[in-house]
Amino acid sequence: MSRKKKPASKSGGNKVQASKKQSNTAQTGQQGKRKLAVKVRTAKGRKLSSTLWLKRQLNDPYVIRAKEEGLRARAAFKLTEMDDQFSLIKPGMVIVDLGAAPGGWSQVAARRAKSTEGPEAKRGQVIAIDISEMEPIAGVEIIHMDFMEDEAPDELKKALKGNAADIVMSDMAAPSTGHKQTDHLRIIGLAEAALEFAIEVLKPGGCFVAKVLQGGTEHELLNQMKKHFKKTRHVKPDASRADSSELYVLATEFKGNQPD
Ligand SMILES: C[S@@+](CC[C@H](N)C(=O)[O-])C[C@H]1O[C@@H](n2cnc3c(N)ncnc32)[C@H](O)[C@@H]1O
Repeated sequence: MSRKKKPASKSGGNKVQASKKQSNTAQTGQQGKRKLAVKVRTAKGRKLSSTLWLKRQLNDPYVIRAKEEGLRARAAFKLTEMDDQFSLIKPGMVIVDLGAAPGGWSQVAARRAKSTEGPEAKRGQVIAIDISEMEPIAGVEIIHMDFMEDEAPDELKKALKGNAADIVMSDMAAPSTGHKQTDHLRIIGLAEAALEFAIEVLKPGGCFVAKVLQGGTEHELLNQMKKHFKKTRHVKPDASRADSSELYVLATEFKGNQPD
């Protein structure tokens, strides 16, 4: 997918928020499960599909747990699980979060990279970008911009302040069209652009993770990743709904920029 040529939208809220200690326990688990399921009545004017969605949301243990832990999205647990399994995030790391709104992944990254704790020189750095506006998060620099704009990579590099990244992660997804193959190709386009950016900014040994929807061409993306990383794999975290074709491609041990 090629980048857009139109002028970049203005970056907004490029501030690292004031320090605020937060717990580092974004773990999935059973504690969040309610004993009684919440029943949702079909209100007048509400479509059956909306009622079913609401029912699923209200009874989803990850949604409940996200609320309890002050996390903005149940998606936070997908990153938490991948990090617990593969030990990706370490204190002091430099992390770029593509498609970050409403901010669940950024919250987990900021907590685990300790971007608001300890001496400034040792703090992690988290840079988030989204086409949608995002409320500020302590220890996260937010860029409000379409990642597919030509100027987006430079804006992110500016925010990196000359640092190479340890992790580039993309949970980017365009709104669903309802057409499976179209959605698949669109998300692969975003993941390819994310990979291209990752190759430019990652430090040797760095890691890349991106959301894809299964549909055939994700294997080509994985082959592309294999050229640049020593280890690549598909991951389907438990927090990713079983009925969704969503999965994540994870690449670790970036080989570094090699001459072509
Ligand atoms: C599934 S949500 C991300 C959830 C996030 N990881 C969290 O934990 O809160 C996907 C996000 O990708 C963003 N997105 C889609 N296309 C984008 C683009 N071209 N540039 C920047 N963000 C994009 C959407 O606006 C949306 O906020």
